[in-house]
Amino acid sequence: MSNRRELPDSPYLAAVAGRTPAHVPVWFMRQAGRSLPEYRELRAKHKMLDSCFDADLVTEITLQPVRRHGVDAAILFSDIVVPLRAAGIDLDIVPDVGPVIANPIRTAADVASIRPLERQPVAPVAEAVGNLVRDLGDVPLIGFAGAPFTLASYLVEGGPSKNHERTKAMMLGDEPTWHALMEALVDITVEFLRVQVDAGVDAIQMFDSWAGTLSLADYRTYVLPHSTRVFTAMAEAGVPMTHFGIGTAELLGAMSEALGDGPARMVGVDWRTSLTAAAGRVGAGRALQGNLDPVVLMAGWDVVQRRARDVLADGRAAVEAGAAGHVFNLGHGVLPATDPVLLTDLVALVHEQ
Ligand code: CP3
Repeated sequence: MSNRRELPDSPYLAAVAGRTPAHVPVWFMRQAGRSLPEYRELRAKHKMLDSCFDADLVTEITLQPVRRHGVDAAILFSDIVVPLRAAGIDLDIVPDVGPVIANPIRTAADVASIRPLERQPVAPVAEAVGNLVRDLGDVPLIGFAGAPFTLASYLVEGGPSKNHERTKAMMLGDEPTWHALMEALVDITVEFLRVQVDAGVDAIQMFDSWAGTLSLADYRTYVLPHSTRVFTAMAEAGVPMTHFGIGTAELLGAMSEALGDGPARMVGVDWRTSLTAAAGRVGAGRALQGNLDPVVLMAGWDVVQRRARDVLADGRAAVEAGAAGHVFNLGHGVLPATDPVLLTDLVALVHEQ
């Protein structure tokens, strides 16, 4: 079934799989985006969501940070709400706000109205993946999706949220509706990832950005079974899989469990937890990704250098403590105000180690 490329020399794929990479691999979450003037120039003419459904724009924007920074992986330019939009949910991505849902999902009837994801509306995404695996040379392409909890938070709140109040109220107060919502979102997420894998992505990452708002006990009861179902369904594809969230210090063990047993499984770590501590929490044999605080890039090159070397040393210590490998990244996405020159210099610094 798979038309996947063999990339035996990719440092990213080596580190995830527990092989020794030629150098520490580095890429940046949200590397394709507003820190780049060439991105802003393109986006001045096209709305965010329109761009995500235009194969040529997706291809070009995905390539921009690879050309500029020389990162070891590309991440598909898209958004976690793209499959929801493709499944017919009326939403927009509002500049400087984020995803906004026209009719938030609050009742059992709302949940029952969620339709599955068909392949036709995401055909441009598949087309872009096909273009990219041709144009990227030996740089691997990471496909991604939002995790059911983070998607549910946007759908239930109607937009970005600090306290996730309505989401947690449904989760705790109306369990049947909550689990039905999560099941519908698992199906959409699995289908969106399968579209990308079938089109040729070399690895996948699931973003559960807001899972850190939950206690470990609630995460285990209301989220873990659903996220596990995504990774179990995707395991048969045989691509490396990463699970990432922020504020997840207490959840790292459970998020690692969701990945299931098997080779090439990686846990993303934010800047609050050292990679060495994370190695102990995720269990032996997992690779780790992270975890420079993205705000460090606002403090100038001297600080960036020092802190990046600290992360590299922490990564080496984590590998000695049992982690399968270390992929250098930020602890969350690149902030829009980041000077892209610092990102390029940071890639060079990581590669020199
Ligand atoms: O380079 C990449 O990482 C690839 C592209 C990517 C985007 N969104 C593009 C984007 C990825 C991987 C995402 C994931 C995403 N989207 C997440 C998970 C990762 C994370 O950061 O926690 C989440 C929670 C979203 C939802 C979302 N979409 C938010 C919170 C925002 C930012 C709102 C804002 O404008 O500040 C978006 C919009 C968005 N997604 C932009 C980009 C480049 C900005 C759109 C613009 O250029 O105006």
